[in-house]
Amino acid sequence: MEQIKTLPIPARGTPMTTEQAMQLAISEAYKGGPRVSPNPLVGSVVLDSKGGFLQAGHHEFYGGPHAEVNALKNLSADVLKEAHVIVTLEPCAHEGKTPSCAKMIAKLPVKKVTFGLIDPNPLVAGQGAQILKDVGIEAEVFSSADKKLEAEIKTQLEEVCEAFLWNFRQKRVFVSLKMASSLDGQVALKSGESQWITGPESREYVHYLRSCYDGILVGKGTIEFDNPSLNIRHPTIEKKNKVIVIDGEGDLLSKYSDLKLSALHEGKNIFWCVAEDLKEQIEKKISKFKNPPQMVYVKTNVGGDLNLENLLEHLYQQGLRSVMVEGGALTASSFVQHNLVNRIYMFQAPIIMGAGGSRSWTESLRIKQMKDKIHVNNPRYQTFGGDFMITGTLK
Ligand SMILES: NC(=O)c1ccc[n+]([C@@H]2O[C@H](COP(=O)([O-])OP(=O)(O)OC[C@H]3O[C@@H](n4cnc5c(N)ncnc54)[C@H](OP(=O)(O)O)[C@@H]3O)[C@@H](O)[C@H]2O)c1
Repeated sequence: MEQIKTLPIPARGTPMTTEQAMQLAISEAYKGGPRVSPNPLVGSVVLDSKGGFLQAGHHEFYGGPHAEVNALKNLSADVLKEAHVIVTLEPCAHEGKTPSCAKMIAKLPVKKVTFGLIDPNPLVAGQGAQILKDVGIEAEVFSSADKKLEAEIKTQLEEVCEAFLWNFRQKRVFVSLKMASSLDGQVALKSGESQWITGPESREYVHYLRSCYDGILVGKGTIEFDNPSLNIRHPTIEKKNKVIVIDGEGDLLSKYSDLKLSALHEGKNIFWCVAEDLKEQIEKKISKFKNPPQMVYVKTNVGGDLNLENLLEHLYQQGLRSVMVEGGALTASSFVQHNLVNRIYMFQAPIIMGAGGSRSWTESLRIKQMKDKIHVNNPRYQTFGGDFMITGTLK
């Protein structure tokens, strides 16, 4: 879900290598970020018979035309003679909400299709390529003579649809963790005060990130201290999101109707996670609510805390495919400790808060030996105003 730097669209006819076209297709794919879930982000670029740029497109919204359809739109058969279609994911073979892209391309006079990844969906896997080969179109998985560049692009290809791949391969929710910290890794004062650590540019980007996930998850402490809205406030994105709250004992439900989030979100978009043995008493309690949240009854661990894996299983069953954990300190630590975080976004501001009177986002995490330290893989860095953000994967 990370947005890489958007590449400019070249003028028609500009010569491009397959590698350049694939990088442009990846950049295009990210444009679908807020709107395609649970589908993958996909981008496509079409080159003419001489390798000149013709058009680019992406999958814009769930249920809408696929990337290849948008990239090929309004290009005549004459222009497409011997053309080369580059797409980040194998063209689909099956008819879903839209017709099969492989069958659509098979009717065109294109010479070659290069795709970034084989679709893990068993309804497609290899079959999209086969449909093309059956009509004499070359269909191959992306590779490059420059092996370093190939590896770089393949990493980007996996990243661009990481949630979709994770969902298909693991049948589990993709989890990202976003925190804002001071230079010394603190996320709040011990008093609970934490607003604001980062600047407006970082915060605007966080609202973009929110839009790319199916839900935003926070612990009870964050609701108590901050009474957050947990909605998407972005100048160009309008979207209703889902909110997940961890409140093992269900204590916070007594304040539910006074919370900003219960006024701002429809109850069907609020998932309130409590221990499963409290079901009877909680059901009684919420039966009087005007806009009740969806209750999620979760198994508990020996210590009584909610089993986060079970919580994620419930969310998956309820149709959520990706969530962004936004704190607070204990909730962030728990997710890392239980090895449940796929991607991390850590925004660091050029301020010092002092560990003596503050809280760290890893406060409950204990690493005894340096060999057990947790690595952030494929780290990437971006600046937002005076802050910088590091993102990468934890698994
Ligand atoms: N800088 C940032 O990015 C950022 C982001 C968000 C929040 N914050 C700050 O962080 C502070 C809040 O952090 P926090 O650690 O106090 O609260 P928190 O992480 O928001 O919530 C912790 C509480 O959530 C419940 N919880 C979490 N995991 C659970 C589990 N597996 N099972 C059952 N219950 C679970 C527990 O409630 P029980 O007490 O019922 O057990 C726990 O005490 C605030 O000051 C807030 O402003 C900072």
